[in-house]
Amino acid sequence: MSFDFGGWANLAIRWLHLTAGIAWIGSSFYFMWLDSHLRPAAAVRQGVAGELWAVHSGGFYQSQKFMLAPPEMPAELHWFKWEAYTTWISGFLLLSLIFYVGADLNLIDKARLPMAPWQAIALGLAVLAGGWLVYDALCRSPLGSSLRAFGLVWFLVLTAAAFGLTRVFSDLGAVMHLGAIIGTVMAANVFMIIIPNQKKLVAQMLAGETPDARLGKMSKQRSVHNNYMTLPVLFIMISNHYPMVYAAPLNWLWLAGLGVAGWTIRHFFNLRNAGRMHPEVLAWGALAFVSVAVLSEAARPKPPASVPVPPFAQVRAMVDRHCVMCHAARPTHRGIAAPPNGAAFDTDEALHRYASKIYERAVATHAMPQGDETGMTEAERQSLGAWIRAGAKVGGA
Ligand code: HEC
Repeated sequence: MSFDFGGWANLAIRWLHLTAGIAWIGSSFYFMWLDSHLRPAAAVRQGVAGELWAVHSGGFYQSQKFMLAPPEMPAELHWFKWEAYTTWISGFLLLSLIFYVGADLNLIDKARLPMAPWQAIALGLAVLAGGWLVYDALCRSPLGSSLRAFGLVWFLVLTAAAFGLTRVFSDLGAVMHLGAIIGTVMAANVFMIIIPNQKKLVAQMLAGETPDARLGKMSKQRSVHNNYMTLPVLFIMISNHYPMVYAAPLNWLWLAGLGVAGWTIRHFFNLRNAGRMHPEVLAWGALAFVSVAVLSEAARPKPPASVPVPPFAQVRAMVDRHCVMCHAARPTHRGIAAPPNGAAFDTDEALHRYASKIYERAVATHAMPQGDETGMTEAERQSLGAWIRAGAKVGGA
């Protein structure tokens, strides 16, 4: 009996990653919301910038915000940092498990750039570190003082990264590294800037010094950036479900477009939380989303006009050669313990049932065969496509 260690490790780490990510983004959305709903405090206490009342699950809560610091340090002070660290650590483990342990299968695309696994892994790690170095340098440059100019330049850097990554890695490997660059920047903002600055401020206060306002300003800059990156990074992390985006020929462009949609929608909510209703901003976000949908559909490669419908036996042989080592009740491919997502094509009936999904993954896009170790040709894909368009008839001639 073989124990599917990779499968269970993947499940446990992904579960943790999702949970930590929800806690991180949830607390960060919550504090952004608190900040924008503060009203002048009723009873004047020294240093209070504002307060708010809320009701939740049977209790009333009163929060007060001190602009720089309270007159004296409370005995117990809660920090919010482990949500971010746990999200990054679990995300990095998941990335390593899927794309580094499984570099051969999941990260390397020999048709793009033939690499040894260690080279692909080194490149992936360099890209993550490089992303942070570029981002941090941009923040510290004069550009950092203008949110708009910074946003535009950082967006262009990420789009260029998406373009570059999709030239060297498999589609999914490229897209997940793009998401990991953003996630790394967000977590490093917390680890390298926001929390250390907070600690310095607390130390200055305890020493009776005037807190250095520049530290707070720097943290604010990073936390605003994190806020705008949340929706784009969330989309990228679930994009493995959408081969029509990640495996499309212009995937980098559609990712950029959806990034703009996420950024814009977040902007609408930031404005709304600050009491400024701008429905047109939401409309721009929706327009960006719809434009990506319409343009990417229009850009889908059209099937060639006349491809003869192959006899079923030929289709069967093609699928047996290119797919069944992974997509069978008992896969024979190394590292594949069970049919991926339950999709097994070893019976004719299943082949018929999965026809439209097979079209999506192996004809309309080149998402499959994963890793393309068998080198499926374009002619084979088109022949498979012709068979599916003609009704995916199994058996007989
Ligand atoms: C090396 C292993 C491997 C080979 C070979 C392979 N696949 Fe896959 N396939 C996977 C994995 C892993 C997944 C799940 C991950 C994902 O959805 O991208 C998957 C998912 C799929 C899905 C989505 C199933 C669902 O219901 O979500 C389809 C359809 C598919 N493959 C079709 C094919 C076809 C058609 C071929 C052959 C032309 C093929 N695959 C060859 C590994 C493979």
